[in-house]
Amino acid sequence: MPYNSLLCDVDEGVAVVTINRPGKLNALNAEVVDDLEACFKDLHAQTEVRAVVLTGAGEKAFVAGADITQFSGLSPEDAASFARRGQEVFNLIESGPKPVVAAVNGYALGGGCELALACHIRLASDNASLGQPEVNLGVIPGYGGTQRLPRVVGRGVALEMILTGDPITAERALAVGLVNRITTQEELLPTARKLAKRIASRGPVAVRLSTAAVLRSDLPLRDGLQQEADLFGQSFATEDVKEGVTAFLERRKPEFRGQ
Ligand code: COA
Repeated sequence: MPYNSLLCDVDEGVAVVTINRPGKLNALNAEVVDDLEACFKDLHAQTEVRAVVLTGAGEKAFVAGADITQFSGLSPEDAASFARRGQEVFNLIESGPKPVVAAVNGYALGGGCELALACHIRLASDNASLGQPEVNLGVIPGYGGTQRLPRVVGRGVALEMILTGDPITAERALAVGLVNRITTQEELLPTARKLAKRIASRGPVAVRLSTAAVLRSDLPLRDGLQQEADLFGQSFATEDVKEGVTAFLERRKPEFRGQ
């Protein structure tokens, strides 16, 4: 399906979604948010798509934030709806059945950092700059930053980033666990694609259930373990488990069908 502000290519089970407003550093306006929703809903429904890479067009930015031109004249009620709308779409990405690798190819500020946080794995190019600069505008992060950032980097680092508004470099992001790896700009997309392909070759239901279990790892331990046991049980209701175990015993590569 064609989108006004996104590119989407599927190859060998991996979809690459590129936010395509390079002249505005891929800032998230309502159209981009709507396109992201439509595109991820479409990808979630495609069985041949097993993993997604999300990146930004151009050399400079992943996403430089929510489109600030939309902020003028917002009432408090409008602003709360604005935040809820972005959160709804980011939740769709995070809780969807396909693992998403963010290829952070430059600025990931405000809503850009929050979008990367809604992805399951983050890789960055060496020119990346990640931050929550909202306090410079007199607002707070609204697309999940106050909730997902502390869960990923811990409260102390999250508060420093959110209260100063200062961005951090790719090296610092790696050190605090905000990204998993750094590459050169040229190597970022091939590396992200390779990682996504590796995940795509694994049992799709097991990948989906594992993600769901890890996303709930903020539950009290007893509840989290209960949930893990339930999901472990669910994985035994699949054809994939038969194929995976049989292939191991027959010393061949499994051919998972995601069922
Ligand atoms: N919303 C709307 N437009 C944005 C944007 C945003 N978040 N970020 C960048 N742009 C636009 C700029 O207005 C400019 O448009 P123009 O060429 O039509 O004037 C274009 O993108 C290029 O940005 P520019 O500021 O000229 O690039 P730069 O290299 O000098 O600076 C940044 C890059 C990222 C440091 C700077 O654009 C910036 O601070 N952006 C806002 C970041 C932010 O606060 N995000 C959180 C929003 S809540």
